Amino acid sequence: MTVSMMQATLGDAGDMHQLEVALFPNDAWSRQTIDAELAHPDSYYLVLRDDQSNDLVGFGGLRASQARGGQGDIQTMAVARNYQGQGLGSLLLDGLMVEGWRRNVDEIFLEVRADNEVAKGVYERAGFREIARRPGYYQPGHIDAIVMQKTRDAKEHR
Ligand SMILES: CC(C)(COP(=O)(O)OP(=O)(O)OC[C@H]1O[C@@H](n2cnc3c(N)ncnc32)[C@H](O)[C@@H]1OP(=O)(O)O)[C@@H](O)C(=O)NCCC(=O)NCCS
Repeated sequence: MTVSMMQATLGDAGDMHQLEVALFPNDAWSRQTIDAELAHPDSYYLVLRDDQSNDLVGFGGLRASQARGGQGDIQTMAVARNYQGQGLGSLLLDGLMVEGWRRNVDEIFLEVRADNEVAKGVYERAGFREIARRPGYYQPGHIDAIVMQKTRDAKEHR
């Protein structure tokens, strides 16, 4: 199995929405939200496609201004269930961070559910650290949101 990673286009929105609904059954982004994310001038989205089937098997997004330094935000990350646990999530995150540093942001933020151990592990291994909690942010279930941050690091200037 080989997978290719490329920058998303507006034409990917339908496939992204299908994967979104499969992975986030309770709080999936609508097709309109995905369209708006892809069209936003400060967005940078990557998609993963299986080289054999051409199926969309993952995507991730960054929001960071091209115009000035400052802050970037990881908007979302998703890898299809059959493709999880093979490093694809980390690959997506690396690609988003490279683009963030290329846009000269000083720090990148993200939010993750406190009960999402796999995602937290991916972010921690990439050097993100918890800086705050929003108690009970995710409903239903009253699950905390963990705010994580990674600052630009000298060896990652590219
Ligand atoms: C979070 C997500 C994007 C990670 O993608 P991924 O391709 O599985 O990520 P990776 O393979 O790079 O890393 C997953 C790690 O967790 C490990 N892992 C996989 N399944 C696991 C599980 N059920 N429990 C604990 N660890 C697990 C893997 O072995 C891997 O560890 P390693 O890097 O030491 O080998 C993916 O799990 C996903 O789409 N989840 C549903 C949507 C979601 O929660 N998105 C994040 C919102 S903030």
